[in-house]
Amino acid sequence: MAFIPPYPKPHKNKSSLILRFIRGWHSWLHVLFEKSYSMKMGHVRQRGTDVYIVNEPSLVKRILVTEAPQYPKQGLMHRLLEPLLGSSIFTTNGPVWARQRRLVDQALTNGRLETVFPKMLQSVDAMIARLDSQGDARSIEIDAEMTFVTADVMFRTILSQPLEHADAHAIYDAFLDFQNYAQRAAILMMYRLPAFFQHRSCRKAAARIRSILAKIVQARFDLAKTGAPMPKDILSGLMEAEDPVAQDRFNYLEVVDQVCMLFLAGHETSASALGWSLYLISRSPEIQQRMVDEIQREVGDRAFQYGETRRLKLVWNVFREALRLYPPVGFIAREAAQTHEMRDKQVKAGCPVTISPWLLHRHREHWSQPDEFNPDRFETEEGKESARCSYIPFSSGPRVCPGAAFATQESVLVLASIVRRFEVLPDLSHEPKPVGRLTVRSANGVRIRLQSRQYAPCAAPQTTPPPPSAAEARCPFGSN
Ligand code: HEM
Repeated sequence: MAFIPPYPKPHKNKSSLILRFIRGWHSWLHVLFEKSYSMKMGHVRQRGTDVYIVNEPSLVKRILVTEAPQYPKQGLMHRLLEPLLGSSIFTTNGPVWARQRRLVDQALTNGRLETVFPKMLQSVDAMIARLDSQGDARSIEIDAEMTFVTADVMFRTILSQPLEHADAHAIYDAFLDFQNYAQRAAILMMYRLPAFFQHRSCRKAAARIRSILAKIVQARFDLAKTGAPMPKDILSGLMEAEDPVAQDRFNYLEVVDQVCMLFLAGHETSASALGWSLYLISRSPEIQQRMVDEIQREVGDRAFQYGETRRLKLVWNVFREALRLYPPVGFIAREAAQTHEMRDKQVKAGCPVTISPWLLHRHREHWSQPDEFNPDRFETEEGKESARCSYIPFSSGPRVCPGAAFATQESVLVLASIVRRFEVLPDLSHEPKPVGRLTVRSANGVRIRLQSRQYAPCAAPQTTPPPPSAAEARCPFGSN
């Protein structure tokens, strides 16, 4: 029987300004109303500004792809994240962004995915060992474990260090603090209310993170000066990347900014997607059994090798469906560079223009049974068409997520490793409560139970998979 996972029941009508503020304080998902899920374009009056929500595929394409320079990143985002990310690719615009993007793309591509695969595998093995030690079939908070493993993956692949290190733990805690304060500061700033306390707390948490990461980056710059061989990781990629246009490289401070940004952009998003994926699998035993059959058929019990995650079509479809139902980046914030017409509205220069993957992925006109968990939908003609026009978990256009291939490889590997080792069972006493913050998470965590399967996977690989084509190396399954 079809499973409809939980999401906040939309209000009948649009809320008043005060109600929007109260409901949005903890979660912007709780402000949505019925028409939000079928509209083409919406409009809300905030204090002193108009905010536009664009929810029609051709308009979304205009903003993200064909007229992207006319819709730069919102200044509010930059102000909010600046204490942590400095001037990193995530919030810059124009030529500064274009140069940074060329350099970051080099650090994340050029075979880097294959180079960092063994490091990902080490994180996954450590995660399986931690889960093994939790005891059979006990209810566990899997969201926290997914946050830990994805932070560990970022640490190992960017810096060649595992997360067990004391500094890494301090960073992990400070990131949690930063996100909590940043979420509240964002709401206050949107309503043009003072956010002094939140900004101060954000700055304190950011300073803790930056001082630790800066030391690690400095040590690497010192190592480079000695001429010693550099570790094969993303940090080295950032330092070695050379811009073909400006013919320069990132300097030390720029590298610190990009490292902070990659850690933030790369672990929280994947953690959210994995937590939801496991919850969905726990409620769908038939799909889970088919995943196990697929993994056994394609890989068996031995260790995964680079490129093999591409063969796990159903595991990937489960991940895609989790990204559809619970897109980690639930809204993409831009602003209008100039005053212009859109549909029947005049959008003034400087006004926020928002696109919500959450709303597009559940749009009543573009998806059949939009609230239902059905990973097989991506194999039907209808589902493929829906995905082509109304599915943007990694955004689209020039600012499309450069970590999409990384996140897909990591997530398919984590899911396949868990499902192969454990039967993923529901905790029927617990239902997650989705909330929209910087990412879409569950307010009360995600709880599942893991029961060991009968066999133990052996470590030695038996066959060598075919090397990926250049396109596959960038994104194992094509874009998005
Ligand atoms: C499931 C996991 C992920 C999801 C759903 C996701 C989604 C997104 C989305 C929607 C954006 C566009 C945001 C915007 O324009 O406002 C974005 C940007 C970005 N992501 Fe990801 N991401 C994921 C994982 C990663 C990983 C693992 C990395 C790094 C290894 C990464 C690096 C970035 C960077 C650097 C940007 C900024 C790109 C730019 O502005 O040019 N992401 N991501």
